[in-house]
Amino acid sequence: NKNITVAIDGPAGAGKSTVAKKMAEMLSFEYIDTGAMYRALTLKILKLGLDPMSVEDVVNTMNSTSIDFKDNHIYLDNIQVDKEIRENIISQNVSYIAKIKEVREGMVRIQQELAKTKSVIMDGRDITTVVLPNADFKFFITASVEERANRRYKELIEKGENNISYEDIKREIENRDKIDSTREIAPLTQSRDSYKIDTTNKTIDECIEEMISMINRR
Ligand code: C5P
Repeated sequence: NKNITVAIDGPAGAGKSTVAKKMAEMLSFEYIDTGAMYRALTLKILKLGLDPMSVEDVVNTMNSTSIDFKDNHIYLDNIQVDKEIRENIISQNVSYIAKIKEVREGMVRIQQELAKTKSVIMDGRDITTVVLPNADFKFFITASVEERANRRYKELIEKGENNISYEDIKREIENRDKIDSTREIAPLTQSRDSYKIDTTNKTIDECIEEMISMINRR
């Protein structure tokens, strides 16, 4: 009875977490949202008034911070921060923190531990390449930048963030993708052995169906 691991990578707003969450429920696997961990550290840095680009401040803060998951919620120093980490200010800053070597090493270690004892679906930017290179199933989920910006924009409007425009969101997503895919350590890239799904013109259920049928084929 071996644990099964499903690894998903892809750019911002492609639908990874929506698909992964639902699939985890269907398969009774645990869903691990690695982006939430980088977001939680970003939240702490901003709350402390520190500069996300200061490697020293970020690393020192990380070393005195606890980030963990309990029942599908994320806790920062034992306080649940599910909502706060989704604010746009976090999205605007997270990629600067996520490119720091020491930060990545710390996060990857925790993520690998989480996958050791149970069947998991994990999503992020470096899951298929660095965190779980031996995953049983690997997916690269993407969509056009216009579609991704559109989804993010709608999501933020629904949550009541009013001071944003579609154009701003599109620019921010492009900027985040650029930082994430050009950074020195563990850049976002489609690994050769990943199965690619373009969600631009697909519903969530169509994507899940495609993934499950791919899993069943093996
Ligand atoms: O997935 P999400 O959009 O919440 O991720 C937020 C940010 O965290 C990404 O833009 C990226 O900078 C960083 N990240 C990462 N590696 C991961 C997951 C997220 O660098 N495995």
